[in-house]
Amino acid sequence: MSLTLWHHCTLATLQADAAQPYGLVPDGALVVQGSTLKWVGPLAELPAALRAECSAQHDAGGALITPGLIDCHTHLVYAGDRAAEFEQRLQGVGYEEIARQGGGIASTVRATRAASAEELRSSAARRLRDLLSEGVTTVEIKSGYGLALEHERKCLQVARSLATDHAVSVRATFLGAHALPPEFAGQSDAYLDEVLRMLPRLHAEGLVDAVDAFCERIAFSPAQTARLFEAARALGLPVKLHAEQLSDSGGAQLAAGYGALSCDHLEWLSDEGASAMAQAGSVAVLLPGAFYFLRETKLPPMDLLRHHGVPMAVSTDSNPGTSPCTSLLLMLNMACTLFRLTPEEALAGVTRHAAQALGLKDRGVLAPGLRADFVLWDVQHPAQLAYALGANPLIQTIFEGQVR
Ligand code: NIG
Ligand code: FE
Repeated sequence: MSLTLWHHCTLATLQADAAQPYGLVPDGALVVQGSTLKWVGPLAELPAALRAECSAQHDAGGALITPGLIDCHTHLVYAGDRAAEFEQRLQGVGYEEIARQGGGIASTVRATRAASAEELRSSAARRLRDLLSEGVTTVEIKSGYGLALEHERKCLQVARSLATDHAVSVRATFLGAHALPPEFAGQSDAYLDEVLRMLPRLHAEGLVDAVDAFCERIAFSPAQTARLFEAARALGLPVKLHAEQLSDSGGAQLAAGYGALSCDHLEWLSDEGASAMAQAGSVAVLLPGAFYFLRETKLPPMDLLRHHGVPMAVSTDSNPGTSPCTSLLLMLNMACTLFRLTPEEALAGVTRHAAQALGLKDRGVLAPGLRADFVLWDVQHPAQLAYALGANPLIQTIFEGQVR
């Protein structure tokens, strides 16, 4: 298979054991074979024989090259919007209060059930294109606004189908346990039974890569979450959890006990939760968009996460209620300004650690043998990606070895 050389660039490999911050390689080079990186390093060290084998060459014009960005937590498929609820909240009505009055997630469920697959597909594709324009090459998409078999199926099928006509890799997560649908009002255990019936069917249809739940006083209890995770385990599916977003319910410890790929939000995470996550190797997915949009004041415990050595990812949480956001670059900035991540932690959070949060070992860093998903940026230094607000210095995205 023919080889392609990319040169005249600075690499930010994001390799975990790199000697330089960001894994920086000045005057670097990449050799791509098909959809895979064959060689990564300083141009001066590229073996002459390998260089001679390269049948095509790209001059990157001095660009910075990072791995393709990974948005590891989104709810991209839904209908309608929640601008009216936004107005209500600005007048002082709380997010939980709106949910208890039958608004919030339930209102998006009504709109999503009423929408056709084609309608859902076209609104999700619009949001996806925003993400892609900023160098996203892998996106996770959750269900959770259908809350009934046919509608959860419709949303997961839409999620899968987005990868057929967009150059992006999609991971689909079943979030049937997101909220209680109206027909099960007051019967959350009965709805959970229904979720447990949906899961094996959707899994058998090839629609589920992971299982998620919203463990919270306005959603599902730790005991109910545990029942779901037992079912996921029986099917060999990895789990993740919306945990400790509005209160500390011990969801992180519970999820860690099931070897969760990630626990997400975590504003109310305890020391025990952080320690359990570290032991299990669960990634902390930080969602500054939701923190900002809900005007939260309780910060995720960054020092605790660092102290226990929990890997941190950063994501948009793109959804209509708490984070109507389709800019992962903006999240890089907000992770730094709001959560005090370093720009290097933030960039690792949308590359290496985001891949880990999805259980993907073949991407997230620039290294031989991994996918040739990478982005050329018109910046001198990777900190500039987190520094700017509303800028998009993207030059070009390469997905599976091909210019996108
Ligand atoms: O990640 N926390 C639960 N789920 C979403 C919000 C869903 C909604 O309000 O529509 C989140 O914040
Ligand atoms: Fe979410």
